[in-house]
Amino acid sequence: MTKLSVNINKIATLRNARGGNVPNVEQVALDCERFGADGITVHPRPDERHIRYQDVRDLKAVLTTEFNIEGYPTDDFNALVLEVKPHQVTLVPDAPDQLTSNSGWDCVKHGEFLRKLVTLFQEHGIRVSIFVDTDLENINAAAATGCDRIELYTEPYAANYSKNREAAIAPFIKAAHEAHSLGLGINAGHDLSLENLSYFAQNIPHLDEVSIGHALIADALYLGLEQTIKQYQSELIHS
Ligand code: PXP
Repeated sequence: MTKLSVNINKIATLRNARGGNVPNVEQVALDCERFGADGITVHPRPDERHIRYQDVRDLKAVLTTEFNIEGYPTDDFNALVLEVKPHQVTLVPDAPDQLTSNSGWDCVKHGEFLRKLVTLFQEHGIRVSIFVDTDLENINAAAATGCDRIELYTEPYAANYSKNREAAIAPFIKAAHEAHSLGLGINAGHDLSLENLSYFAQNIPHLDEVSIGHALIADALYLGLEQTIKQYQSELIHS
């Protein structure tokens, strides 16, 4: 069964727009769990424009499902992850001022840097996932870092889904087979939605987890959070 981790960064963005504590990020995360999410993902950025470092600490104290912290491994980020000890850390190569992640790691170029981080986090009992594109040589380089999983960057799939979904998913199927043969677990995320999730989950072998934020929170405006999470889970269950 593929797990659904809900990325709650957008909830923090909404809260930060007014400076108070509405909506309450902790409460929304607990409600996501109550409505059926298998995990919660946060992506703290250096300027704390979405999730704040203190949110991450507060969430760890209350969450009962799987906690995934994703982000660029600055010294501050690494210290936070080591303090909080989530179930999983996902390393993402995004620049501090980037709107959102828009590519995976070059694991050939940054192999040594990543390998040291993987070892450090694993020594503290934290599963490590590395955000990557579908390039097979790069996935081999990711495996060489000793990481536990890769997270496939699904934006190109989502962008091409409506034009030609068979062509859009083909490189992801190959990437998943390669990763599995290397002993890696497989996560995926970015621009997954009620439109494109089911086809992705049906066709990608060994898919451990999807992490979804933007489309899910946008859907919740119309459907409500409970119904939305149930619908995303239903797309996964019936695929
Ligand atoms: N995975 C990673 C590494 C991300 O950076 C993001 C966006 O923060 C997501 C998954 C979720 O993408 P989306 O918000 O488009 O669902």
